[in-house]
Amino acid sequence: MKRVLVVDDEANMCIVLKMNLEKDGFSVITAGNGREAVNLLEDNNIFDLIISDLRMPGIGGMGILEYLKKNNKKIPLIFITAYGSIETAVEAMKMGAYDFITKPFNRNVIRHTVRSVFKMDKLENENSFLREIFNKGDLIYRSKSMKDIMDMVKKIAKVPTPVLITGESGTGKGLIARMIHNMDDEKKPFIRINCPSIPPTLFESELFGFQRGAFTGATKDFKGKLRIADGGIVFLDEIADLPLNIQPKLLRLLEDSSFEPLGSNTTIKISTRFICATNHNIKKLVEQGAFRKDLYYRINTITINIPPLREKPQDILPLTEYFIKKYSTEMGKKIEGISEEVKEAFLNYNWPGNVRELKNLIERAVVLNSEKIIRLSDISLEFDTGQAGPMDEDNSRQLNRLSAVEKKLLTDTLNICGWNISKTARKLGITRSTLRYRMSKYKLNSG
Ligand SMILES: Nc1ncnc2c1ncn2[C@@H]1O[C@H](COP(=O)(O)OP(=O)(O)OP(=O)(O)O)[C@@H](O)[C@H]1O
Ligand SMILES: [Mg+2]
Repeated sequence: MKRVLVVDDEANMCIVLKMNLEKDGFSVITAGNGREAVNLLEDNNIFDLIISDLRMPGIGGMGILEYLKKNNKKIPLIFITAYGSIETAVEAMKMGAYDFITKPFNRNVIRHTVRSVFKMDKLENENSFLREIFNKGDLIYRSKSMKDIMDMVKKIAKVPTPVLITGESGTGKGLIARMIHNMDDEKKPFIRINCPSIPPTLFESELFGFQRGAFTGATKDFKGKLRIADGGIVFLDEIADLPLNIQPKLLRLLEDSSFEPLGSNTTIKISTRFICATNHNIKKLVEQGAFRKDLYYRINTITINIPPLREKPQDILPLTEYFIKKYSTEMGKKIEGISEEVKEAFLNYNWPGNVRELKNLIERAVVLNSEKIIRLSDISLEFDTGQAGPMDEDNSRQLNRLSAVEKKLLTDTLNICGWNISKTARKLGITRSTLRYRMSKYKLNSG
């Protein structure tokens, strides 16, 4: 049973919410103010969701949010606000709240919002779930090609036609899929299925579900991801890795919206929109017989091709500025920009890892830098103006290696300084909070 913590200084509000949520099968604990809520959390009570009033005397809703962030507790938080002060609520969303509801509200709104939390929560990888939702809307561009893509996204957001998003790794395919979802109706389910991460033998049951007894070990019915996405969007990421034996079943689903779960004769009808993404040339795979032609035609009714970063240099500096702002705020630094030299180098660079590479590069530069301006020497470690080809395994390995370098630098310095945080931070020329941020990122602790 899911456990919900309801926090409100109005006792009536707590009672009403508790009653409604319990009717829907949740277990509910209430707290009369932020202090009480934080105490419950500090005592290691487990909650799957917190619904809290935004304004309360003492520790308010924002205080709870800060506590969660500081302690790295990934519990989704929904705010209730009576003041109609949407701005504060939006601010809270930016800080990581899951959603907000304005008072007075009806029961269905609460129910819908709560349900949307759990649908996503269950299926998405924890980190990316929190990250991607809260960064919604942050698509940065200046180039004509991206503007055209956004116009297209706006046009197609509301129609249920399948969309195929293509582009090199790190160009923002996942982000565009999210944008389509946001522009359509972000309250609808959005289920991402990362094809390469599901073992081929489990694919069918993961997607289509199974009936009890369908195979040894199937002791209960299992719904499968597709049924959970009913009424919303299924995002098939890295579609080139879809096993061949699943393809006919998927084709039929795309054609007449129906399928049978494993071991069952009952036909299930669902209404979902399919968005697929790939960094492979599927057409080639079709020619080689590694991907079904009929399925290919079906999924690419609309194709969005995102150009590599090197082909839209107008976006490089706006993105750089955006990531600098993002990471300096996150790490409490005052970095203002990059030097002219870096600008020139960025504009001439090949960007095999596209926006992701730029993002990672800036993140590292912000961590390691203590001056206002990022200079070429600050990034020379990983920065290479050589003419690399498109992102391939070598490049992604290189990115991994860079994280390894950073991790080693942190560990070595921590060891030299006897794991004294202040000393280590001083030695590295970064603030203590930045150091803690990096340590938690790489899961470094002295024990
Ligand atoms: N235009 C953009 N504005 C802001 N951030 C962006 C933009 N494009 C990409 N990003 C960021 O760059 C990173 C990589 O993007 P994303 O994961 O969507 O790429 P992808 O094309 O799906 O890559 P892969 O093929 O490796 O899965 C993400 O963190 C994303 O938020
Ligand atoms: Mg992706």
